[in-house]
Amino acid sequence: MKVITKVFVLLIAVGISMNVAAQQDQNIEKQIDGLIKKMTLEEKVGMLHANSSFTSAGVPRLGIPELVTSDGPHGVRAEHGRGWSQLKNVNDSGTYLPVGIALASTWNPELGVEFGKVLGSEAKFRGKSVILGPGINIMRTPLNGRNFEYQSEDPYLISKMVVGYIKGVQSQGVSACVKHYLANNQEIDRNYVDVRMSERALREIYLPGFKAAVVEGQVNSVMGSYNKFRGQYCTHNEYLVNKILKGEFGFQGILMSDWGAVHNRMEAIFNGTDLEMGTDLGPVGPNYGKFYMGDTVVTLVRTGKVPESVIDDKVRRILRVMFKSSVFTKESPGEYGSEAHIAVAKKVAEESIVLLKNDQNILPLNSGSVKSVAVIGANAVRKNSMGGGSSQVKAKYEITPLEGLKNIASDVTYNVAQGYEIKRGAVATPEMIQEAVEAAKKSDVAIIVGGFTHGYNYAVWSDNAFDAEDTDKPNMKLPFGQDELIKAVVKANPKTIVVLVTGGPVDMTAWVKDVKGVVSAWYGGMEGGNALAEVLFGKVNPSGKLTVTFPKVLEDSPAHKLGDYPGKDKVAVYNEDIFVGYRYFDTYKVEPQFAFGHGLSYTTFDYKNLKVEKAANGEVNAIFSVTNTGKVFGGEVAQVYVRKNKSQIKRADKELKGFEKVFLQPGESKTITLKLTPEAFQYFDEKQNGWATEKGDYTILVGGASNAIRLNGVVNL
Ligand code: BGC
Repeated sequence: MKVITKVFVLLIAVGISMNVAAQQDQNIEKQIDGLIKKMTLEEKVGMLHANSSFTSAGVPRLGIPELVTSDGPHGVRAEHGRGWSQLKNVNDSGTYLPVGIALASTWNPELGVEFGKVLGSEAKFRGKSVILGPGINIMRTPLNGRNFEYQSEDPYLISKMVVGYIKGVQSQGVSACVKHYLANNQEIDRNYVDVRMSERALREIYLPGFKAAVVEGQVNSVMGSYNKFRGQYCTHNEYLVNKILKGEFGFQGILMSDWGAVHNRMEAIFNGTDLEMGTDLGPVGPNYGKFYMGDTVVTLVRTGKVPESVIDDKVRRILRVMFKSSVFTKESPGEYGSEAHIAVAKKVAEESIVLLKNDQNILPLNSGSVKSVAVIGANAVRKNSMGGGSSQVKAKYEITPLEGLKNIASDVTYNVAQGYEIKRGAVATPEMIQEAVEAAKKSDVAIIVGGFTHGYNYAVWSDNAFDAEDTDKPNMKLPFGQDELIKAVVKANPKTIVVLVTGGPVDMTAWVKDVKGVVSAWYGGMEGGNALAEVLFGKVNPSGKLTVTFPKVLEDSPAHKLGDYPGKDKVAVYNEDIFVGYRYFDTYKVEPQFAFGHGLSYTTFDYKNLKVEKAANGEVNAIFSVTNTGKVFGGEVAQVYVRKNKSQIKRADKELKGFEKVFLQPGESKTITLKLTPEAFQYFDEKQNGWATEKGDYTILVGGASNAIRLNGVVNL
């Protein structure tokens, strides 16, 4: 076929499929019209609030089933039945995927799709219509207990990762629910803190991920957060929900509340809350009719205080999501804890691990010459799947780091020491340190697996939870006396590697200069221990990159230096404005411990031949080549940042606007073309209340990390 004919055929095909989709949507709307006409007011109102912990009512008379939701972002949560306690003797142990920060650290949007498909398929198998993820709140402070569930400090990276995840989930006939809309950036005071930020910070930093989820990802549901925004609760915030989400972004799905996040009936009714979720444990048993969106709403409509059309719109959205989630058709049955699903969990874990430091190539370990390894630290043997709060999942199994090491290098002698005790306030005991030192001394290499912990369940997590819901970390330091432990071990054996199991940055200033190898392994899911061991022994070459800046000390981080955290008098003012993460560190020239985008490999990459070209459609192409100049196969995340030269307004030193992950054999090169759309050059102009582009020169910076720029070119706009 000639090129022109091919293009023509393609256009027709696209046109036909768009028509088919539009036709399907029309059919759905017609069916919804029919259902709404047949429903009584009581039946409609019954659909607007929970009727058990994770469900809302259907209308059996009309064949409308309940809407069944489940946490959470990295696996389908254990079965709760209709109450809050978990059920026993049910098949609810499935695939436990790596957590949000781990997925994002792969910088591989295709893995986002795979991850989403696994989750969607498992949710389907378990009879859920909505999976309560992804969580995409901006990592504003290292202390936020839920950073592990989230993706990044950077809105562009979040926008790229979130779309794949949503499409993956929704391809299985299950709805994703992006959360928590908006500015749920801390867990302390989350039930009432009132977040104040500039319009520019809102538009440039906090909204883009949600916009991408709605506009590109076509997410079917959004969860309103617990906190307030500019004085009004987010779940029924006129500006955020009606004006922006449903108005500007054209969101057609359900805005559901976080569990118990509705505080005002009239605001919920008129400001866009479609579904009030929460668990009623009531003294004499649950009474969901008394929810804000419960029985009183019937009276309000009957007495003319609320037009029925407002209720109909909410019902329509709920039904729409049911149709889109194939609640009515029950097509594919889904799959649960299958080998294929577990393989995805493993792949994500492998690509998520970030090699932070590797002096004198202490890693990878050579299984031929390393005969003995000291494995020190409570996280080496700890299982994490049931930790962290609502994102907990029952894993079919979970490989710990020690088990992973034994699986991959079974001939090695492992000298194991606990190192520290997981208990809030616990300090290093001389006995434990001594035991660790002796293990290190008699081993060729010492691996300390430390970091934070998740806490196991709601009842006890306050004792030992750091990366967990409903709590923030007290500071950024390693708890339980780990600094002293690491210092003592590295003194005993200079060949020491520290593996951090955390949901974000830690203060390493006490020991990082003395330790040759540092690895971030996050909470790597059920196969995390195997993936870690394969990276340590070089079977897998690490290719993860940081999605959040690791400051040296907490005081260096912008929310703490310039902004308010956790706020005063229940108000948190985000004075750091748009200078979140590397935008702050680079602009204010504060040296981080490890920069945004950083991550080492066992091979080396060379960047060459940057061409910056203006395309006819207003886009700018950055074209360059990456070559694997080392000896082993490896992956690199090539990153493109944009800087405005001589800007007339306050602007970040540079902003991420493109990236691509490439895998190359030794000696292999690839030419990468990254398209920078006009949005890549814009800022939000508060005076005009809209996006604007400054005229003049922009520098396009290309490299393997925000602080490892290898090429640059200029374009004039
Ligand atoms: C969390 C949500 C979660 C919900 C249901 C809330 O406490 O903030 O993320 O989806 O509970 O478990």
